[in-house]
Amino acid sequence: MLSKQELFNYTGISSIHIFESISSTNNYAKTIKAYPAIVAANKQTEGRGRYGKSFYSPENGIYFSVALKNDFGRDILYITPTAAVAVCMSIKKLSGTAPKIKWVNDIYINNRKVSGILTESTGPSIIIGIGINFYGQNNTLPSHIRDKAGFLFESKPGFDRNLMISEIFNTLYNYLNERNFQLYMQIYKELSLAINKKIKFSLNGGVFNATVKDIADDGAIILEIGGSIEKYYSGEISIILPEGVL
Ligand code: BTN
Repeated sequence: MLSKQELFNYTGISSIHIFESISSTNNYAKTIKAYPAIVAANKQTEGRGRYGKSFYSPENGIYFSVALKNDFGRDILYITPTAAVAVCMSIKKLSGTAPKIKWVNDIYINNRKVSGILTESTGPSIIIGIGINFYGQNNTLPSHIRDKAGFLFESKPGFDRNLMISEIFNTLYNYLNERNFQLYMQIYKELSLAINKKIKFSLNGGVFNATVKDIADDGAIILEIGGSIEKYYSGEISIILPEGVL
């Protein structure tokens, strides 16, 4: 069970908001004025991902948002990659499995997406929303994501969501206080699934075949498209592997 007391014990922060069900923890986090804050829910009815996509959020998953004072200035572009590194490090620490990152905000284990990150800003605050398919069987996923999504664990693990959420919060909060972004970008690249892979790149309704050459230190993806090298800060990639498309 999600517990305010346990989250407080693990993180030491007092602005903690827990819901049995909520539209989206990011929506609620946007209304908060006391930072840092954690908003967590047992399920979401309108969980969201990038580009207005829905994020499947049934009960017993991990859905939480961190609200922080937005004093990042131009460094705001590092927040999603830094959060992706924090999620990977925390999952590795608690589960022993080593996740990978699909640019820009998706976390994969065994070529299945187990987690996504949605960063938003209200102006004064920055909201980092993290969703993890915590445990379950792939055949329980809705058919439209069954081939691509997966769970962190097949059955209930020996630790609970309060610990996982706190581990991610503590790691991310430390990173964002230290602001050693060049280091986190280096780790982000090392964890990246896409470098040197052939991909389909979608942007503004267009889809292009490309090869990922690199991820720049500022988080942009560097693509070779039709013989020319191009740098993009937005868009979506699908990685083409012999075993299927991620
Ligand atoms: C993505 O897959 O593009 C990102 C998914 C982010 C999901 C999390 S769950 C907690 C927070 N609330 C939301 O509505 N979205 C984020």
